[in-house]
Amino acid sequence: MNRDDAIAFVREKTEKDTTVRHLISVEGLMRRLGRHFGEDEELWALAGLFHDLDQDQTHDDLERHGHVSASWLREAGVDERVANAALAHAHPEYQTDLMSKAIVHADALSGLLVACALVRPDKANGMKVGSVRKKLKDKAFAPGVAREDITGVTDGIGLELDEFIGLGIEGLQLVAAEIDL
Ligand SMILES: [Fe+2]
Repeated sequence: MNRDDAIAFVREKTEKDTTVRHLISVEGLMRRLGRHFGEDEELWALAGLFHDLDQDQTHDDLERHGHVSASWLREAGVDERVANAALAHAHPEYQTDLMSKAIVHADALSGLLVACALVRPDKANGMKVGSVRKKLKDKAFAPGVAREDITGVTDGIGLELDEFIGLGIEGLQLVAAEIDL
């Protein structure tokens, strides 16, 4: 699936623009992380873009969340590893490879980075690791962000926190223009 088709698929399955923006931000982070690890960055980007595909249908049913995405992805013939990553971000038993572990951390960090970008005059441009770390400590800022999934990145996928945040910023910057950041 090329990117235009992938974005069209996202727009077909989602109902809210905020969901589309969230998916594109996680796509950016996952692309950068995949590149960092020398993995297939197109596959990682697709996993980011599709991880919450069923968000607008399953928001009140956490048991089905991820499973609906995975069935749509399989129907569309998308790589099984991408379907597994969609399952993995909501259900730990599917966190079976580096990509499906990374998605959990990228998901959480993207939420923090987008919140940081929204309160900066230059948005994602020029964002620094140090200022993101301050916002990470400030629990009153973006309280919905799962901070333990950000700080757990070293145990999860072996990245130091500062390196992870730096890669995350670069990943967000890859897609920032597309989501008005
Ligand atoms: Fe997400």
